[in-house]
Amino acid sequence: MTGRLVVVSNRVPSDGPPSGGLVVALHDCLRATGGLWFGTSGRITDDPDDSFAQVQGDGYTMRTFDLSPAEQQGYYLGYANSVLWPLCHRRADLMALNAGDYDTYMQVNRRLARMMAAELRPDDRIWIHDYHFLPLADCLRAEGVTATIGYFHHIPFPATHDMMALPQHDLFPHWMAGFDLFGLQTQRDVAAALEMLRGLPGAELLRDGTISYRERRFEVRSFPIGIDAAAFAEEAARIDGRALLNFAPDERLVIGVDRLDYSKGLDNRLRAFGRYLRDRAEDAPKASLLQIAPPTREEVDAYQQIREDLERTAGKVNGLHSDLGWTPIRYIHSGVPRDTLAAVYRAADVGFVTPFCDGMNLVAKEFVAAQDPDDPGVLILSQFAGAVEQMASALIVNPYDIGEMARALRQALAMPLEERIDRHQALARGVFRKDVAHWTRSYLDTMDRLSAARA
Ligand code: G6P
Repeated sequence: MTGRLVVVSNRVPSDGPPSGGLVVALHDCLRATGGLWFGTSGRITDDPDDSFAQVQGDGYTMRTFDLSPAEQQGYYLGYANSVLWPLCHRRADLMALNAGDYDTYMQVNRRLARMMAAELRPDDRIWIHDYHFLPLADCLRAEGVTATIGYFHHIPFPATHDMMALPQHDLFPHWMAGFDLFGLQTQRDVAAALEMLRGLPGAELLRDGTISYRERRFEVRSFPIGIDAAAFAEEAARIDGRALLNFAPDERLVIGVDRLDYSKGLDNRLRAFGRYLRDRAEDAPKASLLQIAPPTREEVDAYQQIREDLERTAGKVNGLHSDLGWTPIRYIHSGVPRDTLAAVYRAADVGFVTPFCDGMNLVAKEFVAAQDPDDPGVLILSQFAGAVEQMASALIVNPYDIGEMARALRQALAMPLEERIDRHQALARGVFRKDVAHWTRSYLDTMDRLSAARA
């Protein structure tokens, strides 16, 4: 084991309990190992100075910095979430390209590198997270930082064809090469990254899996992220989710939980649920869909229509199928506390996880961890969620095919107990074994191996 663990991510839990997959995972990781966590404060101030505020976390220390309104616009809303996010989620058509946002994104990365460099030690292990900070290692190197630097990309790696739509596509490999280890979620992502690198002048894929690019060497590997499954399962069993929901005794529950994002396939999901209701036999189970969809990045243009579309579809389905005592789709436009969520997952008969494109999707793992092993619910999972590589025992669906998703709902709701248990056991084995501690350990072990080899 070498020096301190230093983590960087755009969001840190500086103003309350952690929420969201990435922040919860890093919180669990740092709570176990201790260390420093750098990230934005969530405050937008007119003239942010180049200093960090210090916030004490549970076993670790956070160093946060403010953004100016222009930085929030160009770095976060602009280049990160209106260019890199759609690019990585196969929606290059939604990219809002403008050179000013790119410049601001670079300025924030350079400013953070300058501020961090003053605090870093040569034996630190630096672990940078997500697309907000792709150039950060390169910027830290320019500040003279020689420590081992790893990166983890929580979202999908873009296909080479999409990458060509990024005006800065020639810089992408250069950014990657600033790191010693470039971590990705899935094998599919690694294949996409290697495909991009293979054709690149100056890049060489060495036999041991290392990539040599110009004067640097780095590794690209997959580390599928997990959850703290044991803790989540315990949470789920603590409260009676069905009592919270006020459901009729014979009413079956299908659950969806997603940030309101165009990558999540929400509209198709509601349509598929409508199709299930339309086609169901008289005696088929009466099922309701509870969709929890907290808003996200609302200032970004591409997010503005989603809520309206979804409300229209939910209204249509409810208009067609409700009766005096029953509304089939319940739609919550806000977040739900984690302990409540865990209990609601456990009470659900079906987890309906149907993104068009997703780095991993931790809802799928949480749903499995929360189930009662003696009477588990069924997971329906999109073939385009990264989680599918580890969760082959789910009912796998194509999120573009409404009919197929409706049939999967019918199959899930009618599935005999024995088959539910078999599938759940297979899924749970992976979710509990390959948990967040396993993810952290395998990433950091690989980083230690790399720094030992360098030394
Ligand atoms: C995804 C990204 C994270 C991001 C989260 C919430 O999971 O991979 O980096 O923090 O979404 O998005 P937000 O823009 O609200 O931070």
